[in-house]
Amino acid sequence: METAPRLSGDVKDIAFADRGKRRIEWANQHMPVLQRIRKQFIKDQPLKGYRMSACLHVTSETANLAITLRDGGADVVLCASNPLSTQDDVAASLVKDYNIPTFAIKGEDNATYYAHISAALDHKPQITMDDGADLVTQLLTKRPELLKNVIGGTEETTTGVIRLRAMAKDGTLKYPVIAVNDALTKHMFDNRYGTGQSSIDGILRATNLLIAGLRFVVSGYGWCGKGVAMRAKGLGADVIVTEVSPVRALEAVMDGFRVMPMVEAAKIGDVFITVTGNKSILAHEHFEKMKDGAVISNSGHFNVEIDIPALEKLSSSKKIVRPFVEEYTMKDGRKIYLLGEGRLINLAAAEGHPAAVMDMSFANQSLASEYLVKHHSELKNQVYSVPEPIDRQIAKLKLESMGILVDKLTPDQEQYLASWSEGT
Ligand SMILES: NC(=O)c1ccc[n+]([C@@H]2O[C@H](COP(=O)([O-])OP(=O)(O)OC[C@H]3O[C@@H](n4cnc5c(N)ncnc54)[C@H](O)[C@@H]3O)[C@@H](O)[C@H]2O)c1
Repeated sequence: METAPRLSGDVKDIAFADRGKRRIEWANQHMPVLQRIRKQFIKDQPLKGYRMSACLHVTSETANLAITLRDGGADVVLCASNPLSTQDDVAASLVKDYNIPTFAIKGEDNATYYAHISAALDHKPQITMDDGADLVTQLLTKRPELLKNVIGGTEETTTGVIRLRAMAKDGTLKYPVIAVNDALTKHMFDNRYGTGQSSIDGILRATNLLIAGLRFVVSGYGWCGKGVAMRAKGLGADVIVTEVSPVRALEAVMDGFRVMPMVEAAKIGDVFITVTGNKSILAHEHFEKMKDGAVISNSGHFNVEIDIPALEKLSSSKKIVRPFVEEYTMKDGRKIYLLGEGRLINLAAAEGHPAAVMDMSFANQSLASEYLVKHHSELKNQVYSVPEPIDRQIAKLKLESMGILVDKLTPDQEQYLASWSEGT
């Protein structure tokens, strides 16, 4: 079997490791499902001998995933999936305490970001794990010679799945990928409750605004947007939703939110957050209409949801007024505040999703990797959903960890549901 040179990683400061280790252990306490999987992995060694490169937000929860994969027998290296989302202490601890090569520095420039992805690819992965599909894209376009090693990959987020489906459609995807995001135990919880809470947390940590009484504009009423809108409403905001999907817009209306086009919302909003997975949601025509003091942020995967070049063009100067808060002074004197450079605000200014919700997402990642090892030879170069039994198993384990019991179908009920002739 082909081997790769042992890598050591690139982190901000190895001296941060002790603090990182405490955070990793704290997160572990809140990840009971992953703990159960890890115990099983230690026993069964399902990933034994497999080289894995993971491009994920380097947080304390991700550290627990990487440790689980390692304990399942994998040889894992990790790099950041976003230049601003790395927890430097966690990255240091992964290298020092867990011997997991990690390439990630919070605030790294674009060149370093891609150099780190390239370093993770030097590991010659047999399995890739992505959050946003940057690793697989780099492998396919810049390092195609590595393809011969790869048996498959997994993808964590909506935007990555969209990119991968586009690749599969035009034949560019050269190995099977499991869309972890599509598991119900992922997007219904991580995207909704995780992004909902942690995006508000990011806005609060960056600004310390009082949310109550503010007009809070949420763009995109998908899984993430629903969560953000729900939590903003809970804090007393007057929430306005913008959408392009009539179904989702209708859902927002029936959930009690005002819905209007962004050109209208731009005039009245105090705080804006984009979570669409699309580009230029806040653009030139919106900045022109915004009130003095408007705060703009994004929690979608890429920093293209806010058209920052357009904001730059309209402004005469900019300065940092607090960590993660940049004040743009418009040529007409108005000020607009951009949070976290337009990158995922929950990871840039806060700590990302709470461990309790990443527990399920990363349980999916772990079991999807095991599934890939067992079934890769049957799979085509397509994007696959997480098999339903895995989804159900994770929900069951989570409920058990919460001490919650549910009813079981009786044999009679099972028969009733399976038969078309019943009920007539
Ligand atoms: N911040 C995080 O930690 C985090 C976590 C999970 C997902 N994400 C990212 O958040 C984004 C959204 O994910 P999701 O799961 O909610 O996706 P989703 O597909 O469920 O929802 C996206 C919504 O945005 C709407 N939309 C698209 N273009 C629009 C436009 N021009 N104006 C208004 N609405 C528009 C769509 O109609 C859709 O309803 C993705 O980029 C995803 O990768 C971020």
